[in-house]
Amino acid sequence: MQLILKAHEQEMLDGKHGWPAQKGMEILYQVGRLYGAQEMLPVKNVHMVNASVYLAGDAAVKLAEKMLAEGARFKTQTTLNPASVDMDCWEEYGFTENIYRRQKHLTDLFVQMGAIPVHCCSPYLVGQVPRFGEHCCWGESSAVIYANSVLGARTNRNGGPSALAASLTGVTPAYGYHLRENRYGQILIEVDAELNEISDYGVLGFYIGEEVSDGVPVFTGLPADVSNDALKQLGSALATTGAVALFHVEGVTPEAPTLEAAFGPHKPGRVIRVTGKEMRETAEKLKAGICGEFSLVFIGCPHASIQEIEEVARLLRGKKVKKGIEFWIQTGQPIKALADRCGLLSVIEEAGAWIVSDTCPSHCFLPEFREAKQYKAMATNSPKMAHYGWDMGKTPTAVYGVGQCVEIALTGKVQ
Ligand code: F3S
Repeated sequence: MQLILKAHEQEMLDGKHGWPAQKGMEILYQVGRLYGAQEMLPVKNVHMVNASVYLAGDAAVKLAEKMLAEGARFKTQTTLNPASVDMDCWEEYGFTENIYRRQKHLTDLFVQMGAIPVHCCSPYLVGQVPRFGEHCCWGESSAVIYANSVLGARTNRNGGPSALAASLTGVTPAYGYHLRENRYGQILIEVDAELNEISDYGVLGFYIGEEVSDGVPVFTGLPADVSNDALKQLGSALATTGAVALFHVEGVTPEAPTLEAAFGPHKPGRVIRVTGKEMRETAEKLKAGICGEFSLVFIGCPHASIQEIEEVARLLRGKKVKKGIEFWIQTGQPIKALADRCGLLSVIEEAGAWIVSDTCPSHCFLPEFREAKQYKAMATNSPKMAHYGWDMGKTPTAVYGVGQCVEIALTGKVQ
């Protein structure tokens, strides 16, 4: 089957709508052919992953400069993933002027093309909310899996170039999770374990991601009133150890009112049972290898909701973070502004913790930043952050519940 372009798409490919749209269509045409797409789908909604100078690199900056000089304008509502600095408080939190200036230049280029600089990896918390069934083009694995699973929107895991190309053209190729037949469940996950904390959902996702690789898991046995923050944590961990982009939860997520609806015409290819034993073993694994003392505590991977910030503020009220420990609560700038308005920011700052916006350790732990900070070990409530802490941040990292993370921040130890 051939990939057939509509007349205006062919015009873009032929260069009739300018060089940026032509380059965008060339990328999408090749991606579409590679994955067997037969048509392009209109999209209004893009979340772009290559928005930090650290990860994007100089070549991406040069490309953005050339695109803008050639008149590039985004045709979609395009939001930006985290940057390499906190754009407002970079100096206060120890980011260098050099990295701030480079980041500001890249952000400004995207803004001039029409991007909304939320610099947030939970864009659905700050106004980027596709409808059920809407085709969109998102990058950032934790956001993609949330859009597909919790919102019921349709997107693949897009890298920087294909998301940029979708913004420039307003289309994306119809393959993968855009097609109904690829959205049915494949593997049944029977959960017979107590999940008390949001971090437990991360532990569950971390374990199952390794087991299912890039399949579509369907969970049964989770409480019907599971919170969006718990689903956010479950999805981000699934997308860390696996390449999972879609999961269903029986009776909770929109494409799984029942197990029959979730699996559609198929039967589960495999059944995995999760008990307290697997949960304990995975939780232990996520604490292993830490021999030094904690000097960083991190909450907010993916970027924290106002409810998560409220919980931390409640635990911190009237207390003081131990000298020598940095406590970051990471979120998008609009949520930090809301935390300020709710009085949570002052509680957190009076305790000596920070609400850091716009960035995250996997985007800002540049060699010079690590050199200056000399973090010994990090405690976090997020298995995804534990993975990237070790991998990209080169910092030994262990996972605990929020209460234990706060305890570590206050005392340096966990009971
Ligand atoms: Fe977001 Fe960074 Fe975690 S981009 S999902 S806070 S690794």
